[in-house]
Amino acid sequence: MAQRETWTSRAGFIFAAVGSAVGLGNIWSFPFQTASNGGAAFLVVYLLAVFLIGFPTMLIEFTIGRRSKQNAVSAFAELGYGDWTFAGAIGVFASFITLAFYSVVGGWVISYIVGSVTGAYLGDAGAYFGSVSSGLVAVGAHAVFIAVTIGIVAFGVADGIERATKFMIPAILVLLVGLAAWASTLPGAGAGYSYYLSPDFSVIASNFADIVPAAMGQAFFTLSLGFGVMIAYASYLGRDDSLPGDSAIIVVLNTIVALLAGFAVFPILAATSGVGDASGGAGTAFIALAGAFGQLPAGQIIGLVFFVVLLFAALSSSISLLEAPTSYVVDSQGMERRTVAIGIGAVAFVLGIAPAYGYVGLFNDLVFNVLLPVAVLFIALFVGWVANREAVDELGRGSSIGEGATTIWLWWVRIVVPIAVIVTLYLGVTSFYT
Ligand code: PFF
Ligand code: NA
Repeated sequence: MAQRETWTSRAGFIFAAVGSAVGLGNIWSFPFQTASNGGAAFLVVYLLAVFLIGFPTMLIEFTIGRRSKQNAVSAFAELGYGDWTFAGAIGVFASFITLAFYSVVGGWVISYIVGSVTGAYLGDAGAYFGSVSSGLVAVGAHAVFIAVTIGIVAFGVADGIERATKFMIPAILVLLVGLAAWASTLPGAGAGYSYYLSPDFSVIASNFADIVPAAMGQAFFTLSLGFGVMIAYASYLGRDDSLPGDSAIIVVLNTIVALLAGFAVFPILAATSGVGDASGGAGTAFIALAGAFGQLPAGQIIGLVFFVVLLFAALSSSISLLEAPTSYVVDSQGMERRTVAIGIGAVAFVLGIAPAYGYVGLFNDLVFNVLLPVAVLFIALFVGWVANREAVDELGRGSSIGEGATTIWLWWVRIVVPIAVIVTLYLGVTSFYT
């Protein structure tokens, strides 16, 4: 069998992982979620979830991946625990389902790039959203988006994923800083910032049962955890750099992009029709922003830049969603990567026809409230209570953290992560019935 692929450098791995993390979740959901859940107060809860639960969970996936050098499903058998294969399989299934609806939203972004060029959304933003977000146009754009995703993954780990993300991530950072700087000069900037971040702890206090699972779900989703993606990406590490170091860089960059997105979005909204109508989720964010671009002097250009940033963010994530199942089939069946990527992408395309006709929310809820927390719970229990100490010690290989730090992490993974996830699951599931 052919030699398994590896990243060409440490930076290559980091770009790919940041690419997976930075996505629609950062630029399109995070700012609005923050604004509507208590601003800076929500941010505190979210950052706690990211750093206290997300960061150690990323280390679980990196440890499994680098130790086994296998996709998320085969990894468990490779480590000698074949009956835990299901834990990885849940994640890979989640990534496949997510690819289907993520690609539909990616298709919307393509339609908004087209709309920025033609000026089609400048007049009536609501009508434009209606015409591109479901139906045949949505299916067509979804097809284009998934085809590009397949094209990148087919080229392989180094020539496809690494090369694409090495270009897209710096571009996202530079353009987003530019957008935020430009937005800061708008007349309503101050009002935008305060809408975004003004701390309202009473919102948290009165909605605790909704906000905790929302912040936790967002933390896992934004860091691409529970999907087997970070296991697959770490399995392509050919050298032993510091896993905690890499993970810290990834988590911090991901957070910076999310914060920056808010600094770009809210002044733009505040300078135009206001921010009040932008908190309703999915569609309203597109409508509110496109409406704002329609009112600004340079709105068409700014809109184009914004949606290009969003496209890069979405693509660098969707390739990781396709890579998780692809690496499983390539590793376990020895099939050719290109054939597998096309096959899985085609099935995800068909599955995505449902959300392209208006069922994005259903898919989203299944992933967020059920698959994600369940997958994270099992990998945490696996590394915490089942895997032998040799596998656990993979965490510190190539880094300067000592035995003591590894042990603290192990106990954190044994106790704190599972409890946090179970509370999240409980609150998330019960919120269905209230
Ligand atoms: N992290 C991506 C985002 O925030 O948009 C979404 C995502 C990508 C989730 C890849 C999971 C994944 F495996
Ligand atoms: Na991304």
